[in-house]
Amino acid sequence: MLLRTIQGLAMFVCVCKGITDSQIQSAIDKGADYKELRETFGVGTDCGQCGNTCKQMINSHKMNCEFYEVKAA
Ligand code: FES
Repeated sequence: MLLRTIQGLAMFVCVCKGITDSQIQSAIDKGADYKELRETFGVGTDCGQCGNTCKQMINSHKMNCEFYEVKAA
């Protein structure tokens, strides 16, 4: 799924929980992984349709970072 913010308007990534792309991106920028996104926002815990989009956002962040800290399990 291609994510695009139209003229600064937030887009809902998780319709079930009402979570926008900017909320998720902000958390990812602060180091959140998918598990943390699930725990913090509840993404992927209802219908699950947003899970892949969240994972794509995390992967995109990793590819755009020179260094990406991996937290120990
Ligand atoms: S859209 Fe995120 S759990 Fe349904």
